[in-house]
Amino acid sequence: MKNAKAHPPAVKEPAQVHQKPERTEKAFAQRRQEVRRSDPQAGQRKDPLEGLEAVDRLIVALDFPSADAAMEMVERLEGCCRWFKVGMELYYAAGNRVIEQLRERGYEVFLDLKLHDIPNTVAGAVRSVTGVGASLLTVHAGGGEEMMRAAAQAASAPGAPKLLAVTVLTSMDATMLRRLGVSDGPDADDAVRAQVMRLARLARTAGIDGLVCSAEEVAALRAAMGPQALLVVPGIRPADTAGRRDDQRRVATAAEAIAHGASMLVVGRPITQAAEPARVATGILAEIAASRS
Ligand code: C5P
Repeated sequence: MKNAKAHPPAVKEPAQVHQKPERTEKAFAQRRQEVRRSDPQAGQRKDPLEGLEAVDRLIVALDFPSADAAMEMVERLEGCCRWFKVGMELYYAAGNRVIEQLRERGYEVFLDLKLHDIPNTVAGAVRSVTGVGASLLTVHAGGGEEMMRAAAQAASAPGAPKLLAVTVLTSMDATMLRRLGVSDGPDADDAVRAQVMRLARLARTAGIDGLVCSAEEVAALRAAMGPQALLVVPGIRPADTAGRRDDQRRVATAAEAIAHGASMLVVGRPITQAAEPARVATGILAEIAASRS
C-alpha cells in the first residue's frame, strides 16, 4: 500500500468548513489533553494501530435518504463516534453539503461512492470531491489497475481523500461469484479469498492507500500486506443480533474482525436501526477495545 496509515489524518479543511461549533471544539480539545495525559508517547509509535482508541476504529454508515434524517442520527450518536460514512443513498440525495455539515461538527468522513468507470471518468470524480472534506473515498478494485492508477494519481493532489479499493462486496458469497464467472480455488471459500487477494494486489500496484474486505479475508490480507496496511471491514453484526445478516453474506462480530486484523470497522443498520443507537455503538466500541489485534 502506498503510505497506508491505519488512521488517515484529517484532510485539509476547505475555508468554508472552518467554524466548528464551540461545543465540539471544546470536547475535542479536552479529549486530546486526556490522550496526552494517559499516553505521553502518543504520535511516536511505529505501529499505526497501537494505541489507537476504539472510537478511531468505528465508522457508522449513515445510509439515510436525506441530510435531515442523517443528522438526526448524528445527534443521537453524539459523544460515541468520530467517523461517519456517507454512501450513495445519502450523497445522491444531499451532495457535498452533508459532508460539510459533518465536518463542521468535527467528524471525519468516509465517502463511500464505490467509483467504477473508465479511468478518465473516475479520475475526474476524484478531482470533483477533492477539497470537500472527506478523509476516505472508495473505488471498486474490479474497475482494474488502470482505473485505480488514474484515481490514485488524481488523489495525489492536496486536499484529496485517501483511496480505499473495495475488493469483493460483503454482500456476495462464492455462489454469487461463480455466477459472475469467478470460480477458481479448490473450494468455494477459496474462490472468494483468491479473488480478494487478486484485487488487493492490483490495488497495491496501482498505488491505492487501503482496502475494503470482509472479516473472512482480513487475516490473509493483513499477513500479505503487513501491519501498516489500512484494512476496512464492513459486514459487522453484533453477537446478540441472533443471526440477522440483512443483505450481507460474509459477516462477523466486531471482536472477530479486529482480532483478525481489521484497522477500522463499518457498521450501519445494527446501530442506525436500533431502538437505542448510542447503546449499540457503545457496546461495539467496548468489543473493539477488548479485542486488540
Ligand atoms: O447496514 P450495514 O452494517 O450492513 O452497512 C454496511 C455498510 O458498508 C453499507 O453502507 C454498505 O454500503 C457498506 N459496504 C459494505 N460492503 C462493502 C463495502 C461497503 O457493506 N464491501
